[in-house]
Amino acid sequence: MSEPILRVEDLRVYFYTYAGVVKAVEGVSFEVYSGEVFGLIGETGCGKTVTSRALTRLIPDPGRIEGGRVLFRINSEWVDLLKLPDSELRKIRGSLISYIFQDPSSALDPLYTAGYQVAETIIAHNRVSWKEAWLKAIDALRSVLIPDPEARVKNYPHELSGGMKQRVVIGTSIVNEPKLLIADEPTTNVDVTIQAQIIDLLHQLKNLRRTSIMLITHNMGLIAEMADRVAVMYAGRIAEIANVYTLFEEPLHPYTQGLIRCVPDPTKEIKELYPIPGTVPDLINPPKGCRFWPRCSKAMDICKREVPPRVEVSKGHFVECWLYAGGGHE
Ligand SMILES: Nc1ncnc2c1ncn2[C@@H]1O[C@H](COP(=O)(O)OP(=O)(O)O)[C@@H](O)[C@H]1O
Ligand code: SF4
Ligand SMILES: [Mg+2]
Repeated sequence: MSEPILRVEDLRVYFYTYAGVVKAVEGVSFEVYSGEVFGLIGETGCGKTVTSRALTRLIPDPGRIEGGRVLFRINSEWVDLLKLPDSELRKIRGSLISYIFQDPSSALDPLYTAGYQVAETIIAHNRVSWKEAWLKAIDALRSVLIPDPEARVKNYPHELSGGMKQRVVIGTSIVNEPKLLIADEPTTNVDVTIQAQIIDLLHQLKNLRRTSIMLITHNMGLIAEMADRVAVMYAGRIAEIANVYTLFEEPLHPYTQGLIRCVPDPTKEIKELYPIPGTVPDLINPPKGCRFWPRCSKAMDICKREVPPRVEVSKGHFVECWLYAGGGHE
């Protein structure tokens, strides 16, 4: 097993809204290894996007990172991204760590050409001339399989199709050769052909450049095809982490079991995951104890009182559930 490149410990993010404090991310811990695809899956609203954005402190008002550590390895040194000065963090964002956000059109500025936007990202992080950056931008667009990149660099976003825009976004996010690429629902909102091309691109990045990829998705087929390890999120916490085979063959957490059972055909795209009766709880007043208990058919008394601890059931297979923590023997 390769070494970790990212180590997230006890991350907490709250939103201070008029209706109350939304405890969106409540004690999340995981690691991402170098050169792997780490999948993050869970129902809408469970905190995937907030978790991924918090890694580089991209949390909008009224959100606040309440605690935790985000350790990122640069060469052989670990830095806590939550403690880094803004100016240092800006150097990392868009170079060593970069994002592909869900909606490609919002990631591009309508006022600038595709080439300008890619070149600008290069200039922001490298000492190169405008001309060099422009040529590199053309190369980047070629590497994401954009036909005739010399012409496309001169196009404005509205002149490009949805799939082409998504490729420009991907081109922008890999142009500085990130160590960690965070792809938040990269295949949602694009058609099947483009999905396949995006998957190819991610494969290439992983295999040729050994980029670590954090892949956030609803699509179990994509997880099955691409992920090496998977974390299952539920209501602001991580329910289970395992390698992809173990997760599909031996899911332990009742929530994961529900997810896997509800997707007998993992090649099927699912927009929302509603595996188990009930809905994700209100994160302003989440259930005490295990946040899943109101929907869990195996809930015990202790589940309603205390948050289950994380247990490593076998090497690298973690589960947060009282069934595996001696809770059944109280
Ligand atoms: N700007 C915001 N203001 C208030 N609450 C927010 C904001 N952004 C996200 N949240 C809340 O944080 C929770 C997690 O959201 P998110 O990370 O976007 O979920 P996911 O990506 O898993 O669908 C949700 O309950 C959402 O309502
Ligand atoms: S801790 Fe209890 S309520 Fe939560 S998933 Fe496990 S059995 Fe169900
Ligand atoms: Mg999201």
